[in-house]
Amino acid sequence: MLISLIVAMASNRVIGHQGDIPWKIPGEQKMFKEITLGHVVIMGRKTFESLSCPLPGRTNIVVTRQTDYQAPGCMIAQDLSGALKSIPADESEAFIIGGGQLYHEAIYLAGRIYLTVIPRDIPGDTFFPEIPEADFEIKKSKLIDGPEPYHFYIYERVKSRG
Ligand SMILES: NC(=O)c1ccc[n+]([C@@H]2O[C@H](COP(=O)([O-])OP(=O)(O)OC[C@H]3O[C@@H](n4cnc5c(N)ncnc54)[C@H](OP(=O)(O)O)[C@@H]3O)[C@@H](O)[C@H]2O)c1
Repeated sequence: MLISLIVAMASNRVIGHQGDIPWKIPGEQKMFKEITLGHVVIMGRKTFESLSCPLPGRTNIVVTRQTDYQAPGCMIAQDLSGALKSIPADESEAFIIGGGQLYHEAIYLAGRIYLTVIPRDIPGDTFFPEIPEADFEIKKSKLIDGPEPYHFYIYERVKSRG
């Protein structure tokens, strides 16, 4: 099974601010939905709380250290490895969908990264980690045109995990 990260960041690596994503780009959410629909999505508790409800059409797993945490419609895991263990055996690709804490932990496990880059600096308080360039190769690169053009990349792991 493939473990993938999917993320949108500004050119200064900002992904969030005060518990939310500090931009709205037409089309970007649609692409996120198309890629993740039907799959497992794993997220940190703060990212879950930034959503209005579990993502429909996907198996939602929320990672939290809180033993009594309730997230109706979601599975709960006490850490990342617990989340990975609870992925159904027939899943082909599971997605880590944020936020910063989860990305920092999971980038070392990921086989693929779907990366959207908004080509301007945006103020924020949460960042995407540097991609270890020796471990990944860009397999797809596309400029998506629109009112706010952005770059879309797919990185594939080329060096096996440590
Ligand atoms: N641009 C994007 O693509 C994107 C995507 C997703 C999110 N975001 C943004 O990112 C921000 C949230 O990121 P964040 O880094 O603040 O929080 P986060 O990663 O979403 O959630 C952090 C929480 O997850 C739990 N957690 C993390 N690592 C854990 C571990 N190893 N074991 C157990 N629990 C663990 C803890 O929950 P407890 O405190 O409950 O124990 C922790 O407080 C928001 O602004 C959001 O909008 C952006």
